[in-house]
Amino acid sequence: MTAAANELKPVLVFDSGIGGLTVLREARVLMPERGFIYIADDAGFPYGSWEEAALKERIVELFAKLLAQYDPEVCIIACNTAFTLAGAALRTAFPQMTFVGTVPAIKPAAERTRSGLVSVLATPGTVKRAYTRDLIQSFATQCHVRLVGSQNLARLAEAYIRGDAVTDEAVLTEIDQCFVEMDGRKTDIVVLACTHYPFMANIFRRLAPWPVDWLDPAEAIARRARSLVPQVADAVHPDDFDFAVFTSGAPDFPTRRLMQGFGLRA
Ligand code: DGL
Repeated sequence: MTAAANELKPVLVFDSGIGGLTVLREARVLMPERGFIYIADDAGFPYGSWEEAALKERIVELFAKLLAQYDPEVCIIACNTAFTLAGAALRTAFPQMTFVGTVPAIKPAAERTRSGLVSVLATPGTVKRAYTRDLIQSFATQCHVRLVGSQNLARLAEAYIRGDAVTDEAVLTEIDQCFVEMDGRKTDIVVLACTHYPFMANIFRRLAPWPVDWLDPAEAIARRARSLVPQVADAVHPDDFDFAVFTSGAPDFPTRRLMQGFGLRA
């Protein structure tokens, strides 16, 4: 390892649960020289049904501790529900820190749709955010955007990825509202606006009444982060560094095994 590598600050990736791993996976490919710290606020999971003021306060307070403890180079908020609510407050509270956010990919969806019918599949929190409405107003007024707030999908995704049985029926109930037919046109893009959902994309594809693009912003978020993290010549990844922290302090065995699968100590 070079001396430069030892001095590099880590990248912190944050989510309410395991969804942020879909972003971490891409971020590591683009930033192989950086150590990663994955934070899951599982004590607060799911974020989707929290009252807004209380959740914002929780996230800002949590970051005060995380930044003091880990001193990262950049924080990737790999959670739509958190960033659409608390992104601005985090930047105000910690102006020295760089925050890379995750917001519903409404702009790229509006640019790509051919039918003009786009659906946004998200948590109930993300669906009701002013931030999400503003994205539609700014980038997608020419489209018909259906917002679908799912009560259960984040939880189902956690269960599925831990290896628990998840029925097709339970998933279909959560996604079927995404499919809209109007004047002979059909929805052709569904935005995966919760970082948990890409884990279930194969099931969504199989159950979809017709084929659509399932838009996962993970790679775009990782590219944005890479553009903000300085490249250091000759730096290599620090040995045995990457780890996950759970705010509950007690991730179960399947979760720890999952983290190991992603190369994280937990
Ligand atoms: N993964 C989170 C998101 O991107 C939300 C999951 C939850 O806590 O409800 O919105």
